[in-house]
Amino acid sequence: MDLILTPSSPMLGKRIAEILGIGFATVQFRRFPDGELYARIESKEDEHLIVSSLNSSEDIVLLNLIFDALKGEVFLAVPYMGYARQDREFLKGEAVSIRAVAKMLEDRAEKVITVNIHSEKARESFRKLIDLDAMPLIGEHFKGKDLIMISPDKGSAERVKIAAKVANVDWDWLEKRRIDAQNVEIMPKRVEVYGKNVLIVDDIISTGGTVIEAAKKLYELGAKRVECACVHAVLADFAAVRLLSSGIWEITATDTVERIFSRISVAKIIADSVMKICQKG
Ligand code: R5P
Repeated sequence: MDLILTPSSPMLGKRIAEILGIGFATVQFRRFPDGELYARIESKEDEHLIVSSLNSSEDIVLLNLIFDALKGEVFLAVPYMGYARQDREFLKGEAVSIRAVAKMLEDRAEKVITVNIHSEKARESFRKLIDLDAMPLIGEHFKGKDLIMISPDKGSAERVKIAAKVANVDWDWLEKRRIDAQNVEIMPKRVEVYGKNVLIVDDIISTGGTVIEAAKKLYELGAKRVECACVHAVLADFAAVRLLSSGIWEITATDTVERIFSRISVAKIIADSVMKICQKG
């Protein structure tokens, strides 16, 4: 088996190859003057592991070209599965984007490995998906730190609970309570944040809006220092600037999306999963 490095996940791909003790196929990616992409792959192996997050529509096009160029069996790791938030037909006539993406990936790949796909609904679009959990890694990273973990909403609470258990810290989620027809109050469900260091934990930080809103509330309630951690640091547009200038002390993320904030690696859990697949044959 060899590993196909792609522009969206070069460092993570390299880390996975090192753990698995495998080499790289020779890849050549180019862009034509009109913007079209080009891929050429030379490989002597008949099994390949592609590591490519889907951070952009271009990543999907490139992955399709890689699929076409490769001969033999393909295993695919998509550490960040983009398009998973459009996991249903919210409005009549909409494409269920993740269903279309799943079909494309599973047409070619024997197995698809991902990390914390956005929702159960998104997961249901796949037949060959292995969905890994990076929350214990986040927990491990913050073990022994003087902080409490907060989920910005109930939807992410179960994930945060997992990280908090590993870190051995208290945790909670922010609950929306309707005061009257016009007013909604956001409050931690149970814990007192006054004078405490708080880590907001979420699966994805995209625009940063969710974390910024949560941090504002936590500071109003007297939190001493608020920072955030996530699995997928999508950080669209100027999200990092917005987060840091709104009083967030630190951003910590995994390397599913490679950012300067990627201090936690998912390489080991992906490599372990690949080994398990190979052992099963
Ligand atoms: C929501 O369901 C997710 O868990 C995240 O809270 C959300 O995707 C974050 O998006 P943004 O950073 O744009 O507020």
